[in-house]
Amino acid sequence: MPRQFFVGGNFKMNPASREAKRTLIKTLNDAALDPSVGAQITFRFLTVYLTYVPAVWGMKDVKVAAQNCYVKLSGAFTGEISPSQLADAGIPYVVLGHSERRTLFHESSELVAQKTRVALDNGLSVILCVGETLSEREAEKTKEVVEKQLEPVTQQLKEADWQKIVIAYEPVWAIGTGKVASSAQAQQAHADIRAFLVKAVSPAVAESTRIIYGGSVTASNCKELATQKDLDGFLVGGASLKPEFVDIINATK
Ligand code: G3H
Repeated sequence: MPRQFFVGGNFKMNPASREAKRTLIKTLNDAALDPSVGAQITFRFLTVYLTYVPAVWGMKDVKVAAQNCYVKLSGAFTGEISPSQLADAGIPYVVLGHSERRTLFHESSELVAQKTRVALDNGLSVILCVGETLSEREAEKTKEVVEKQLEPVTQQLKEADWQKIVIAYEPVWAIGTGKVASSAQAQQAHADIRAFLVKAVSPAVAESTRIIYGGSVTASNCKELATQKDLDGFLVGGASLKPEFVDIINATK
């Protein structure tokens, strides 16, 4: 079965005003979105907006994702949110292992893998981010770094769990820099991840798992990237705050 194109918008902690967000949701609700992408579009809001935006503004064909969750289900963990609380609030997806979490909040690949396990156990689907820094790429360590990030996850997951995982390959040097990976660089990294899944999990999981690309995706570079055979969608930061996000959703049209 062909892998269905998957597009996510990550608002991060950006200061877009309430009005700007509302306008963007209206643009999406009014736009003719590629029906083959359909329910595969997710938006990552800050926790405070997760239930408010869909309930108050209404969102057509778009699911909501949290930008993070904790590894425990309850307890004295001020400021954290548990996967079961997200699930209770009707949030279907969570992003884990984003490079900003790994770098700024020192999240290890082991912690990300544990969080992935707990999120799945509580009914969430996971958008799992991996990617190398510029110095790691320059040292030709991209494949090694990404495999090390994925390894603990492969140890935590059973084969059936992979149906609820989307892998986001996001080279750190491309995030928010305007330096998008070339389509050849992206394809190579995605093909390497798929080959790793063949080895570490199974050929069936490698074939069915969506691997999406993130890092300075815009309306002008998305079409070429989308032609790459192992690239199954996008995780978009900056451009997801603009009307051009519609063109990115429709990249394969
Ligand atoms: O989660 C999204 C990525 O961090 C990409 O961000 O599109 O602003 O480079 P960007």
